Amino acid sequence: MEKSVRAVVVEAPGGPDALRYGETTLAEPGTGEARVRVLAAGVNFIDTYHRSGAYPLEPPFVPGTEGAGVVEAVGPGVREVAEGDRVAWAMQLGSYATHQVVPCWKLVPVPQELGSETAAAAMLQGMTAHYLSHSTYPLEEGDVALVHAAAGGVGQLLCRMAQMRGATVIGTCSTQEKEAIAEAAGAHHTIRYTEEDFVARAKALTKDVGVDVVYDGVGKTTFAKGLEALRPRGMMVLYGQASGPVPPIDLQELNKHGSLYVTRPSLAHYTATREELLGRATTLFDWIRAGKIDIKIDRTFTFKEAAEAHRYIEGRKTKGKLLLVP
Ligand SMILES: NC(=O)c1ccc[n+]([C@@H]2O[C@H](COP(=O)([O-])OP(=O)(O)OC[C@H]3O[C@@H](n4cnc5c(N)ncnc54)[C@H](OP(=O)(O)O)[C@@H]3O)[C@@H](O)[C@H]2O)c1
Repeated sequence: MEKSVRAVVVEAPGGPDALRYGETTLAEPGTGEARVRVLAAGVNFIDTYHRSGAYPLEPPFVPGTEGAGVVEAVGPGVREVAEGDRVAWAMQLGSYATHQVVPCWKLVPVPQELGSETAAAAMLQGMTAHYLSHSTYPLEEGDVALVHAAAGGVGQLLCRMAQMRGATVIGTCSTQEKEAIAEAAGAHHTIRYTEEDFVARAKALTKDVGVDVVYDGVGKTTFAKGLEALRPRGMMVLYGQASGPVPPIDLQELNKHGSLYVTRPSLAHYTATREELLGRATTLFDWIRAGKIDIKIDRTFTFKEAAEAHRYIEGRKTKGKLLLVP
């Protein structure tokens, strides 16, 4: 039987006002699925790409790909979770709603000591920072990493994890206030890239050698310069496009700047099996409980205020995680 639930719905792609609080219907959980009552949904930059149509989805749809809540009902053949379990998930569209149906292999048990808001806040940005620093370019003691938008959601967690792996972290950001946030998150050096040439500073900080890796979630405004900041055979990790998509490049550029490597990774490919997903999520939860990682919730909005949350993240105001609550 279908269930009517309250949700933020996008009827047609557009600006933040395309997010309308209303109703949608959910089918009963099918084989291998569970219906969860959403206690907190994470706001991520990808939600703005879905809303605007930059990453096209068939409307109408409920945005949001991350949350935490309680299992309310399970479909046939479910072994991973049971009714009443507290769980968290990422990379599953439909989280800006009071209820969501999620494939059970994507549900991660939330430890008792962890609040649902913290769990929701940690999943997507936390696992992203984890795969970037541990798998895409596994940082080693002595590496130098350039982290763009270092005071943002992924940025802060990436600075901390890079520091934990023994790397020297150079973080870029747009304001003095954000420089202090990036430093508190573990950046050893900060560059206000809106005012200063980050390539020249990164080169100066590495005695003209260049950095081992650039983690770039900003895209259009930073990518080309980032190639110049790398050492020969360094790696450019383009994981997002907060400033807009990167135009096509001539591959000869990679040769010119020293036989560089470029990758464009996605969390989905680094949590593609239940084993890998649980490995990253439980490591993250363990670090939060041990106080090694601090999940900074910047602001919490209600579902009705989803448009305001999108204006906030697109307006470069985030200093940590944004959440939506029912
Ligand atoms: N590939 C993946 O697996 C994956 C997973 C998660 C997130 N991401 C990507 O990671 C990036 C960061 O995501 P997040 O959720 O943590 O967001 P966020 O970092 O909290 O916000 C984005 C930041 O980008 C910077 N920025 C630079 N130019 C901008 C512009 N023109 N408009 C808006 N922001 C601009 C801003 O920092 P300053 O003001 O300091 O410049 C802003 O705070 C996004 O590109 C997102 O799509 C990718």
